[in-house]
Amino acid sequence: MRRLPAPHDANPELGELVISEEQIRSRIAELGREISADYAGRPPLLVGVLKGAFVFMADLCRAVDLPVEADFMAVASYGSATRTSGVVRIVKDLDLDLTDRHVLLVEDIVDSGLTLSYLRRNLLAREPASLAVCSLLVRDADDQEELDLAYVGFRIPSGTFVVGYGLDVSERYRNLPFVCAYAASPPRFAS
Ligand code: IMP
Ligand code: MG
Repeated sequence: MRRLPAPHDANPELGELVISEEQIRSRIAELGREISADYAGRPPLLVGVLKGAFVFMADLCRAVDLPVEADFMAVASYGSATRTSGVVRIVKDLDLDLTDRHVLLVEDIVDSGLTLSYLRRNLLAREPASLAVCSLLVRDADDQEELDLAYVGFRIPSGTFVVGYGLDVSERYRNLPFVCAYAASPPRFAS
């Protein structure tokens, strides 16, 4: 991994660059082409999971060459600042009805998979025509649920807690245009 250029080098909370702006841009273009081909003739309803997915969602929806629709839901998970407990609460529900829609759930990162398995159950109960998941990042983890992700941007190693491009620590760093390690990581991530 490459060192971050200044001024991020000067911030001791930020660590190594994990995914550059250019890598994100080119991977999203690829995902957009795949999604456009897979959903030709049945434009998907993109469902972004707030807040982490808002940056990815904005770029991904513009990379899809189909008349997509977009909606958002916000979830809060009980747990520590850096690890979910799997108990998820819907803070903002969708505006649109999912019945008979081809739903593509857009996530920032899948870690344990607990948030995702909750969301999957919740959305399937609304009887969409199909439900698939696109996650920008997937962390390699031992204790991961069965994931079944149709589209994955990047896999990151288990020891790295990351920020940027929508991902936060206590609401900070979502606006970084790249993904980098959070150096002041909690013990589970300190490697
Ligand atoms: P899971 O339920 O363990 O899969 O956790 C998924 C959620 O935890 C994501 O939607 C993020 O909000 C948060 N999360 C997990 N890992 C990171 C990270 O490295 N940086 C920022 N947020 C993370
Ligand atoms: Mg978060």
